[in-house]
Amino acid sequence: MVTPKELKKRYDNGENISQFLREQQGSYTNSRAIIEASYDLQAGTYVRAMSDPQHAQYNKDYTSKIAEVVAGLCQPVSILEAGVGEGTTLSGVLRNLETSVESYGFDLCWSRVAYAQQWMGVKADSPTTLFTGDLFNIPLQESSIDVVYTSHSIEPNGGKEKELLEELYRVTGRYLVLLEPGYELASPEAKKRMEAHGYCRNLPETAKQLGYNVIQHELFPLAANPLNPTAITIIKKANSFSFSKPTPLACPVYKTALVEYPDAMYSPEALAAYPIMQGIPCLREENSITASHFEVLHK
Ligand SMILES: C[S@@+](CC[C@H](N)C(=O)[O-])C[C@H]1O[C@@H](n2cnc3c(N)ncnc32)[C@H](O)[C@@H]1O
Repeated sequence: MVTPKELKKRYDNGENISQFLREQQGSYTNSRAIIEASYDLQAGTYVRAMSDPQHAQYNKDYTSKIAEVVAGLCQPVSILEAGVGEGTTLSGVLRNLETSVESYGFDLCWSRVAYAQQWMGVKADSPTTLFTGDLFNIPLQESSIDVVYTSHSIEPNGGKEKELLEELYRVTGRYLVLLEPGYELASPEAKKRMEAHGYCRNLPETAKQLGYNVIQHELFPLAANPLNPTAITIIKKANSFSFSKPTPLACPVYKTALVEYPDAMYSPEALAAYPIMQGIPCLREENSITASHFEVLHK
């Protein structure tokens, strides 16, 4: 088995880590471990790319278009980017939204969230809350966020579209906006590449099969890579409304409210604590520490 340190060496030598791990695994799909290993090693690259003027301009155009779409749907009280990476998309969207909004972002990879925190200048009293979390077990309460969007984060989780859509829909209050590879709208060459990378497919069809109201699906006018065209899919939640809560953060196992302490988030339902590491709540199921006496002992 390859150790994380060996993987880092391969990454530093320019190797494509997810491809290497897929080959080791002998399949075209990306496991959670493959996604985490490859993206965590890449941490810092999106922030560094922002110092390239051409990339910065692309980011500005991309994020202002997302903000325009969101503002055309509703005036959100809260917004979430699921799979926030280093916050380079979320920060641009927030800059372009004209109203102030409570914002949230989570990612599987701690290192990427840590870069997002630096990039966005997130402090304790900031309107943005960043945390780690898994798209398959989102640590947020039901219908707790007005607008939930993704930007190429469902992408590497090909084959699990149904589970991901159900989970994203659960936390959505009003609209779910997906900016993901447009497999069905792509050229044969692009399709082949998406298949080789284990990318997601058929999001609108899967959403319709789940009975969701897909109000828009088309190619997005901007895409960083012509071989990975972005499609926009907008889903309007039935009985759309959001619950206003002191905090929408939830235990990833029970999806019930968490209580915040200086060094941990506590789940009274799970009798477990989730650590806060360098200001980042680590809210993945596997981060839970059984601590049935936490409340009594934490004075
Ligand atoms: C292509 S990057 C895009 C990042 C960001 N959305 C942006 O627009 O810059 C994909 C991100 O999705 C995250 N991701 C992929 N699968 C995930 C999962 N199952 N749970 C949480 N995050 C995930 C990765 O860690 C990575 O940061």
